[in-house]
Amino acid sequence: MNIEFKNPDVQYPIDIENGCLQTLRAVVSDYSKILVISDSNVAPLYLEGVLGQLPPSAHSFVIEAGESSKSLENATKIWELMSREEFSRSDLLIALGGGVIGDLTGYVASCYMRGIDFVQIPTTLLSMVDSSIGGKTAVNTAFAKNQIGAFHHPEHVLIDPDFLKTLSPVEFLSGLTEVIKMAAIWDAEFFEKLKTYENVNDLQNNIAEVITRACEIKKEVVESDPMDEGLRLILNFGHTFGHAIESYSGLGVVPHGIAVAKGMYWLTANTESLGLTKPGTTEQLVNVLNKFGIDYTLGDYDLTAIEHKIALDKKRRSQIIKLVILNDIGDSKILPVDIAQISTYLKRP
Ligand SMILES: NC(=O)c1ccc[n+]([C@@H]2O[C@H](COP(=O)([O-])OP(=O)(O)OC[C@H]3O[C@@H](n4cnc5c(N)ncnc54)[C@H](O)[C@@H]3O)[C@@H](O)[C@H]2O)c1
Repeated sequence: MNIEFKNPDVQYPIDIENGCLQTLRAVVSDYSKILVISDSNVAPLYLEGVLGQLPPSAHSFVIEAGESSKSLENATKIWELMSREEFSRSDLLIALGGGVIGDLTGYVASCYMRGIDFVQIPTTLLSMVDSSIGGKTAVNTAFAKNQIGAFHHPEHVLIDPDFLKTLSPVEFLSGLTEVIKMAAIWDAEFFEKLKTYENVNDLQNNIAEVITRACEIKKEVVESDPMDEGLRLILNFGHTFGHAIESYSGLGVVPHGIAVAKGMYWLTANTESLGLTKPGTTEQLVNVLNKFGIDYTLGDYDLTAIEHKIALDKKRRSQIIKLVILNDIGDSKILPVDIAQISTYLKRP
């Protein structure tokens, strides 16, 4: 499958196919110097295969796996390596890994000599359907996640679903939550399609078509709002409450995607009982999450502490927090809520 990302300034192909790495040689043929960036989990599995598609002069740089590696310190190490090897503006970076590697590599590429080309080879479900598309790149600081970043699109995205065979079940389910989110906010037909898979194994057997539709949705949303000024916020469905749950529980205790599932459920149960969401929507959401074994249930949270975490949300502007809610499956909207009223949406379902 081939999708073409297009906005007024950039256009690039997104290829989704088992074995599509075979085309890497052709994709990089115009570049003389190439640096592949990967992490300590992905590199032992796939770096050799990728380097095998590249000229022998290609370099590689492997960082420790994990969110804390998305740092200015690692960006600086890569810029230093590129400088020592005399990379110029016409050379290329390749991101081989999940969203951490994609965001870091994209950020490094966006700044080196005011911007050089990079190719995304995403290896997690989340990075295939979400972070590799749309041009947002960033590193974290001690103060905030994604605090330093830039918009910089890849030249090409190569998605080989075979990579997912080695992904841990929890990482797979985290990515799948984002897929369900995309269907819920944008495409009722795709949501219906997801319902037809019997279980997670059945879905995995059809993963290329699932990835393809999710990538199309990400592309459609981003193309409608290239600079992240409005509509793109709907991709945040489940994330405001999800981030609060993640941070309340202690970093890493509730995996990101699972926290988002809980956030989608919690908010939708409330907006449905407030009459803002079509009756039956929460049940549909819960049925799909259940079917794939995604734990959406809420813990015994201290609601005041959760409210406090929501108040710290970086997307808050003054007293107003923009919640993304479902009108119905496949139809979402942005609901500005005064932070003083947030408890109205946080009732225990
Ligand atoms: N740029 C964007 O638009 C955007 C959107 C969403 C998320 N993000 C960012 O993405 C990051 C999360 O991405 P992620 O969930 O891919 O996390 P990740 O990159 O940390 O990968 C998750 C884990 O899976 C391992 N892994 C990756 N591929 C594997 C494979 N094929 N087999 C075995 N193990 C593998 C990694 O080493 C890591 O331990 C966050 O930093 C988030 O901010 C960015």
